[in-house]
Amino acid sequence: MLLEVRDLHVEFRTRDGVAKAVNGVTYSVDEGETLAVLGESGSGKSVTAQAVMGILDTPPGKITAGEILFKGQDLLKFKEEERRKVRGAQMAMIFQDALSSLNPVLSVGAQLGEMFTVHRGASRKEAKAKAIELMDRVRIPGAASRVGDYPHQFSGGMRQRIMIAMALALEPALIIADEPTTALDVTVQAQVMDLLAELQRELHMGLILITHDLGVVADVADRIAVMYAGRIVESAPVHDIYKAPAHPYTKGLLESIPRLDQKGRELYAIKGLPPNLMHIPPGCAFNPRCPMAQDVCRTDVPPLYEVTEAGTDRVSACHFWRECLNG
Ligand SMILES: Nc1ncnc2c1ncn2[C@@H]1O[C@H](COP(=O)(O)OP(=O)(O)O)[C@@H](O)[C@H]1O
Ligand SMILES: [Mg+2]
Repeated sequence: MLLEVRDLHVEFRTRDGVAKAVNGVTYSVDEGETLAVLGESGSGKSVTAQAVMGILDTPPGKITAGEILFKGQDLLKFKEEERRKVRGAQMAMIFQDALSSLNPVLSVGAQLGEMFTVHRGASRKEAKAKAIELMDRVRIPGAASRVGDYPHQFSGGMRQRIMIAMALALEPALIIADEPTTALDVTVQAQVMDLLAELQRELHMGLILITHDLGVVADVADRIAVMYAGRIVESAPVHDIYKAPAHPYTKGLLESIPRLDQKGRELYAIKGLPPNLMHIPPGCAFNPRCPMAQDVCRTDVPPLYEVTEAGTDRVSACHFWRECLNG
């Protein structure tokens, strides 16, 4: 297994109290596999990713328990310097907002080239050639003539391609893309997502694709992990989950995707709001919003049950996963 996150806990200690952002996340990604991590805003998707990358805001953030195994080694036991070597060369992250992630006063060629001068000891001439090659690879038209341009001279979609190029530069084994297309127009979104999926297959990388949009993951993901209040509530191969979700929260998310064949029909939205992470409700965190909740849901935290029907290699943190599957 390329990456295994085991029972990860992350808290933020603030003046107002302790926000329990990640409460026992377990997920894994293999080489060549795409895992989509899904969930409403605030569910702990980015914080988990930051912990994996080693870029968590500490303080106020603190990892209080868990393991992050990368190629079998627990990254949480690494010294910062060893960690830095892993970052970039072995795992890289793509963020939502390219404009604030790229350096505005350096040409994109210089920024891409730096990956090779700093990490690979390339000469400036070699680095420039590599930068152009990467820009070609992410299909930036006229790469050779644009290598000296600055980030603001590119469109949003092209900038996002440049960020993908930065992430790919050292051919890492794992890429984490955190809402990589959320800031883009719908048509550009699809192009950037297709490009990312294609490069992932070509380079046989592990990809963690964080998104709040179930619509985009159907074509690109192998597995889906659904997060709620800092926990994985369901995880399954993508087709199984679409066919029959085993958690009421996943079901709610699926029912709120706009569908072309149901134009005009009112969109279902999950009622209520995600919990305050300083006061997560007892029992199942989703119980106040759940149409299927019973007494036990208000008192007992559901473990991750193995879902033994409707597919293999699936888990659900719902006491009533069977009823959910069949309902
Ligand atoms: N820098 C921070 N300081 C304090 N709290 C934070 C910080 N970053 C994240 N959090 C807390 O962690 C929660 C989960 O955040 P995040 O992982 O970014 O959610 P998302 O699923 O939308 O990516 C937030 O709602 C917030 O309570
Ligand atoms: Mg996020």
